[in-house]
Amino acid sequence: MKETEVPQSALPTNPARITVPPGLDNVIVATTHISDVDGASGRLTYRGVAISDVVERYPTWTALVPWLVTGLPDAEPAAWTDGPPRQILGTADPMARLAMLVWAAGDGAVLDTPLESAAFVQSLPAQYARLVGRGAGKPEDPARAFLLAMTGHAPTPAEVSALNAYWVLAAEHSLNASTFAVRVAASTGARLPEALAAGIATLSGPLHGGAPTGVLSQLAALEQEADLEGALWRLLERGERLMGFGHRVYRTEDPRAARLRGVLHTLGGAGGAEHASRVEQAALAVLARWKPERPLAVNVEFYAALVLSALGLAAPDCPVTFACARLAGWTAHYWEQRATGRLIRPLARYTPSP
Ligand code: ACO
Repeated sequence: MKETEVPQSALPTNPARITVPPGLDNVIVATTHISDVDGASGRLTYRGVAISDVVERYPTWTALVPWLVTGLPDAEPAAWTDGPPRQILGTADPMARLAMLVWAAGDGAVLDTPLESAAFVQSLPAQYARLVGRGAGKPEDPARAFLLAMTGHAPTPAEVSALNAYWVLAAEHSLNASTFAVRVAASTGARLPEALAAGIATLSGPLHGGAPTGVLSQLAALEQEADLEGALWRLLERGERLMGFGHRVYRTEDPRAARLRGVLHTLGGAGGAEHASRVEQAALAVLARWKPERPLAVNVEFYAALVLSALGLAAPDCPVTFACARLAGWTAHYWEQRATGRLIRPLARYTPSP
């Protein structure tokens, strides 16, 4: 599709003159230097670096955050020491707890630059672990702190590096729904913690970051099934979606899924890798018959769910684990949007109720 620059002054004021699809498919609403998702060829880059090189260059999420947020290869955020008390979290759902933590931890904090924000964001997974976990102590690596707190046992080095690989791969993905929500909040001049809370809320939906829960329950339901293709076909006939498949932008396998398939193998086949692989093959065959005109391939959530489950994380904790990673990308977009100085305020076409 050809991109056409329309000067602000030339934009029509009559909403009837510009119509975009309700899901904003193929509509470009921002310019970004942070990442690029090439859906046709299945390529993903962070700040111009191919994702396969990013994971080699940044073995931990903590190492990735300063560069991703600031764009500066040598950025070194100061250590973040503040944190709210445990009781602020109450008994809410994990995503609500993370949103409350981010909001409370950022209350009154000086977050005036990308570098200060990187320090804040780097501290959040370990803060979350400390608040919800079982006596996590203060290990250096947030991935280790997180696993220790969420599973109650000390993770192996392979498990820590698997979570880091997942966090690096999930840190950023251009203008997906939650990043758009963060940019909308940023465009109003909201502070970073509030904008991150908007991202967390948006990521919680089952079509976005909530998908691993659906992936794991679909895999469990298919465990005793001899005829996988028949069972998957019946799910589609009932109007259900195959969780972990399809993507708004990719028309190929999601490059992050391919990397996570490899990460799953480093965990020694835990988490039902063989069953998952059979379901994946059956699902691809069934989807190709179901929607021949629409390529529906495996997305990041399918293998993310399996990796997180192999790491001992419970299904309800998968979205929050994803959100911790994405705090990095959201923060980068927050600053990019603030730099435009432009309020995001589209129009709706009014039609009287029938
Ligand atoms: N299973 C079955 N059918 C599907 C699937 C699927 N996983 N994905 C898309 N389709 C079908 C739709 O039903 C639709 O059919 P229709 O034209 O007859 O209505 C057609 O393919 C096109 O789908 P859209 O909904 O227009 O595609 P969209 O771009 O909105 O979908 C989405 C993207 C939401 C990810 C979708 O593929 C889906 O629901 N997948 C399952 C949930 C999932 O895995 N989410 C995680 C995505 S990755 C992430 O957010 C980090």
